[in-house]
Amino acid sequence: MVSPSTPNPKLARLAKRTRRGKPLSALTAYDYPTARLLDEAGIDLILVGDSLGMVVLGFEDTTSVTMEMMLHHTAACARGTEEAVLVGDLPFGSYETPEAALANARRLIDVGADAVKFEGALIPQVEAIVAAGIPFIGHVGMLPQHVREEGGYRKKGKTPEQAATLLDDARALENAGAVALVLESMVADVATAITDAIAIPTIGIGAGPGCDGQILVIHDLLGSFPWFRPSFATPRADLAAETTRAVREYIASL
Ligand code: KIV
Repeated sequence: MVSPSTPNPKLARLAKRTRRGKPLSALTAYDYPTARLLDEAGIDLILVGDSLGMVVLGFEDTTSVTMEMMLHHTAACARGTEEAVLVGDLPFGSYETPEAALANARRLIDVGADAVKFEGALIPQVEAIVAAGIPFIGHVGMLPQHVREEGGYRKKGKTPEQAATLLDDARALENAGAVALVLESMVADVATAITDAIAIPTIGIGAGPGCDGQILVIHDLLGSFPWFRPSFATPRADLAAETTRAVREYIASL
């Protein structure tokens, strides 16, 4: 683990596509074998996302995820990650004040995260984390932790007002010291405009091809959560079908 006071050399992997020549690759992981497989395959960034709540723990949305759950899974992923930047997500309710945000960010770093992320442009919270020397990744666009108050998952940036707010938030997060930004579920042209407007790399999910990198929930790449597949994700395996086949073959072999 690198202490927050010494610059973490792994963060050099986070750079704008134009400078690196190829898009930044990012995927989620929630356990040791997955993190290790992604790391050994050469992924740039592994996010222990609070999507954990839905694709691993079976909750309806991410709002039931606790700090203890995030610490447990981030620690497991840290044991499997050597090269990739490992990012721990701050869950719902864990960053309501700058003090809480910093204390919980430190806990994620202490179990092995290289950087932390939370949803939204809460600038005092970001400043507290950054002032403590902890690398911070912002997250704007559709924010899953707000699903209950918004009454569903809605793509952002459809009106000029929304697009302007997204751009303002991205600039504010950059100015507060974020090292990268996740852009989730927004109109592609807006994501491209944000990417062009800021110097830190953008990592898109359902935000079109104009970002500096792309992130997917690992289950959407591997086809291992067949009950829901976002339209923007292209599965490159069908682990659900393969699991069912192997289990049926095992049952039949007994
Ligand atoms: O929790 C998560 O997996 C995320 C990604 C969707 C970016 O925040």
